[in-house]
Amino acid sequence: MDLAGGSGRSCLAIVLAAGDGTRMRSSRPKVLHPLAGQPLIAHVLAAVAEAGVDAVALVTAPGHDAVVAAAKASVPNVQIFEQTERRGTAHAVLAARAAMEAGYDDLLVLFADTPLVRAATLQEMRRVLAEAASAVVALGFSAGDPKGYGRFILEADELVAIREDKDASEAERAVRLCNGGLMALDGRAALSLLDAIDAKNAQNEYYLTDVVAAARARGRKAKMLLADESELIGVNDRIQLAAAEAVMQARLRAAAMAGGATLVDPQSTFLSFDTVLARDVTVEPHVVFGPGVSVGEGTLIRAFSHLEGARIGRNAIIGPFARLRPGAVLEADVHVGNFVEVKAAHLGQGVKANHLTYLGDAIVGAGTNIGAGTVTCNYDGFRKSKTEIGAGAFIGVHTALVAPVKVGAGAYTATGSVITAEVAPDALALARARQVEKPGWAKEFREKNKT
Ligand code: UD1
Ligand code: MG
Repeated sequence: MDLAGGSGRSCLAIVLAAGDGTRMRSSRPKVLHPLAGQPLIAHVLAAVAEAGVDAVALVTAPGHDAVVAAAKASVPNVQIFEQTERRGTAHAVLAARAAMEAGYDDLLVLFADTPLVRAATLQEMRRVLAEAASAVVALGFSAGDPKGYGRFILEADELVAIREDKDASEAERAVRLCNGGLMALDGRAALSLLDAIDAKNAQNEYYLTDVVAAARARGRKAKMLLADESELIGVNDRIQLAAAEAVMQARLRAAAMAGGATLVDPQSTFLSFDTVLARDVTVEPHVVFGPGVSVGEGTLIRAFSHLEGARIGRNAIIGPFARLRPGAVLEADVHVGNFVEVKAAHLGQGVKANHLTYLGDAIVGAGTNIGAGTVTCNYDGFRKSKTEIGAGAFIGVHTALVAPVKVGAGAYTATGSVITAEVAPDALALARARQVEKPGWAKEFREKNKT
């Protein structure tokens, strides 16, 4: 994160996250709820970082250590400020007074619960701020249903005030141009403008929105910039969280398809913020990509598969009904079929595990065939142990590999074997009871039991 969109102006971003989030009805802080596989707050911080700023400050409520940790994971040098009482958005910004005092040309104020804002929009806010030499740029949208939002009050196209819903007159409530909450402020004037705001309103709160009137009272200009409503969805409850998820998924799907992946039914493909699909990947309907998945060129992900933390090479076939868990690394041409689960396992090029198998904590060499129903027995209730299978091996149907155990390259295990000891390369290991046959037994049994 260095300089600021090439403008040469320095910039501080303050992200507000001290609200109570009561409408989520959750024991988890609101801004840690995930959207496309990462917390709301991480989306906002990613947009800030992408926009290019010089410093980032986060305002949280006391005791929200997990929020601080999530923010630091995104922006390691984020400055943390606590707002000890919830007294409104202007009050929250002032909690970061020390950061502002360092002196920046531009100040961006963002809400951690408004996760869909784009970096380009933040840059545009700063551009308008600089170009118009205004003290405030407020980001707004035309609302389908304006209820609950602050309204932009205009006089001949000039933004003269923002009126909160609870303070608005009947006529003002009819206004559909709404405040998205995010603002760019003249960093040299911001502190004194914010200090001028009082709490004489319906909620007895210090409203950030009053910075517009405060600027005009000093003969400074306020500008508005409009964005699409979908970019300014504020997540206050689970319904809005789902609405934000839908917007984010639509964006991610569009980007994946623009990048050359075929999503057969985009509506049923769920992507994460960091999913990487190479060219000519095909994704059949009903596939979920959790965080940390990359898929190589030409690979087919068949229906009803669930993938997270997995790296897949080129021209592989995954699913239908496959589950790839964190640490799954699949080289090119691997086939993983129905009801196969792979966790912390490396499958070399061309490995086939096509049916009903669990491969956990394993290394499987190139070209090995894993028979249906094979299970790596990797857990004894206390620790995980490793299974190592060489290249070109053939693991018979229903083999139990009791880890730690090794099967050499080119070896066979017989169907139904319980492998507990190392198998030498190119050997056949038979580890099952020999079949016993009792001629006529069944017939006699039936006759004895006839009624
Ligand atoms: C705010 C805007 C409103 C706008 C709406 C858009 C104000 C006064 N109102 O209202 O004009 O239409 O967003 O979604 O700015 N926060 C704190 N400390 C506080 C209060 C809030 O950190 O004391 C944080 C919250 O965590 C949240 C953000 O500020 O991230 C916005 O607060 P919220 O209470 O959701 O404001 P709205 O009522 O939605
Ligand atoms: Mg809100």
